[in-house]
Amino acid sequence: MGKYVIAGNWKMNKTPAETTALIEEIKPLVKDATCDVIVGVPFVDLAAALEAVKGSKIGVAAQNCHWEKSGAYTGEISAEMLKAMGVGYVILGHSERRTYFGDTDVTVQKRVRAALDAGLTVILCVGEYLEQREQGITGEVVAMQTKIALGGVSKEELSRIIIAYEPVWAIGTGRTATAEQANEVCALIRKTITGLYSCQTAKKVTIQYGGSMNAANAAELLAQSDVDGGLIGGASLKAPDFATIVAAAK
Ligand code: 13P
Repeated sequence: MGKYVIAGNWKMNKTPAETTALIEEIKPLVKDATCDVIVGVPFVDLAAALEAVKGSKIGVAAQNCHWEKSGAYTGEISAEMLKAMGVGYVILGHSERRTYFGDTDVTVQKRVRAALDAGLTVILCVGEYLEQREQGITGEVVAMQTKIALGGVSKEELSRIIIAYEPVWAIGTGRTATAEQANEVCALIRKTITGLYSCQTAKKVTIQYGGSMNAANAAELLAQSDVDGGLIGGASLKAPDFATIVAAAK
């Protein structure tokens, strides 16, 4: 389906010096990767990451951005600022942003707009809570998150959107979705995109799975027909594990 993309989401981990060290460790291990490889680092580590990835094909992502270009928004970072420093990607709508920092489908849509306007590629996260899965409304929840976030996104712009399906109950819990569960929802996201755009367009979109993906379970998840990559938290902080996942994406 879409091009394989393996992205690490470092969350709130690593200092600039530690960022340099970890990327230096990852670089030789992923030099023969056939998929795209991205590291998503804290804002203060972006400069170190951009410097460290030089001479490799590793992309650098921020973990959020504000929707305004500039202004009185203490503590915020704009998409323009990220683009200006050479960042290529931004993770948006992560469940931790939604759960702990008040992000909603509407603010995620605004951030997506700003990121695309600035020329960034977006890793858009969607996923259901355990209660929603138990109620049997996973499909509705994920389709709605996807539709709202993509509101106003053109077919051309969609080539700069990667979608990450991250069931909230699988994040940081060690409880991975089964390969069937992951594939079922990734396929549903693709169907939602087909409805919004076309089958042709939907086939080209990279849809990742995220949630306790690790060196041991990555190959099975990545072998699914609609899973085109992974967004990896904990395991992305260990270079050999991350490299194993990258090698499994083919
Ligand atoms: P874990 O891989 O630690 O479960 O985190 C997944 C995630 O949230 C990636 O964005």
